[in-house]
Amino acid sequence: MSSHSTDAPRRVTARQLAARKGRDPIVCLTAYTAPMAALLDEVCDVLLVGDSVGMVVHGLPNTIGVTLEMMILHGQAVMRASRHALVVVDMPFGSYEGAPERAYENAVRLLKETGAQAVKVESGPEVAATIAYLTRRGVPVMGHVGLRPQAVLMEGAFRARGKRPEEVSCVVAEAKAAAAAGAFCIVIEGVAEALAAQITAAVPVPTIGIGASAGCDGQILVTEDMLGLFEWTPKFVRRYGDLRGEIARAVREYAADVRTGAFPAAAETYFSTMKV
Ligand code: KIV
Repeated sequence: MSSHSTDAPRRVTARQLAARKGRDPIVCLTAYTAPMAALLDEVCDVLLVGDSVGMVVHGLPNTIGVTLEMMILHGQAVMRASRHALVVVDMPFGSYEGAPERAYENAVRLLKETGAQAVKVESGPEVAATIAYLTRRGVPVMGHVGLRPQAVLMEGAFRARGKRPEEVSCVVAEAKAAAAAGAFCIVIEGVAEALAAQITAAVPVPTIGIGASAGCDGQILVTEDMLGLFEWTPKFVRRYGDLRGEIARAVREYAADVRTGAFPAAAETYFSTMKV
C-alpha cells in the first residue's frame, strides 16, 4: 500500500483557495474549540483559529496577551475535530514582527504542533519581507490588512482604516505587498466598500472581508458574534442566531428545576440492582 493512499477526505488547500479568486464566494468562520469546529467544518471553506480567541474565550481586553501556546492548544482542538476546511492559525502579537528567522521558527511550530495548513499575519508594510521569507520556505501565509487588531496599542482603539486619502493608498500598498510576497489570500478588516473593492481589484489573490463590504472574494465573521452570544456586536455583524437568549433561557430553566427538585428525575438517574 502506498504511504500516500488514504480514505480520509481531502482538505481544501491554500492553492485551491487562491485559485477561487473572483469565482464562487469563499466562506470562512473563526473556530477555537473542537465542538464548534466539528459543527462548522462541513459548510466552511476556511476555519480561522483567530487570535480573537483571547477576547472571545479568555476574556482579554484585546489580542495583545495571546501567546503562541494558546494558539497551539486551540489549533490542535480545531484540527482534531475537522476534516474538510482549510485550517489557518493566527500568529499572535510578538511572534513574527521581529527577525524573519524567528517568525519562521514560530510559524513552523504552529504548523507542526497543530497540523494546520497555514498561518495568518497582520501585514503592515514592514511584514511583507517576513511573508516572503515564510512562503519561500514552504509556509502558506494569509495576510490581514485594514483594521489590524494587534496595532491597538499604537492606535489607542480598534480603528477602521482608509477614511483618509493617504490611508487609502497605504492600505492598498500593504495588500499589494502581501500578495507580491506570496500570501495566498488576504483578510481585509474594517474598511469602506470602495477601498475593499479597490484592494480586491488590485491583488491577484482572494480577499476575505470582515466589516469590509461585499466587495471582497469571501467573508469571515467571528462565529460567536454571528451566533448572537454577545450583547454588543459591531455594525458589520449580522446575527444568525440568539445563543445568548437561548443559553440564558436554558440556565434559568435548569436552576428552577434543581431548586424545585424537578431535576434530576427518574429518567436521569442510575438505579442499582443490588440491595443496599
Ligand atoms: O482573530 C480573528 O478572529 C481575525 C478575524 C477577525 C479575521 O483575525
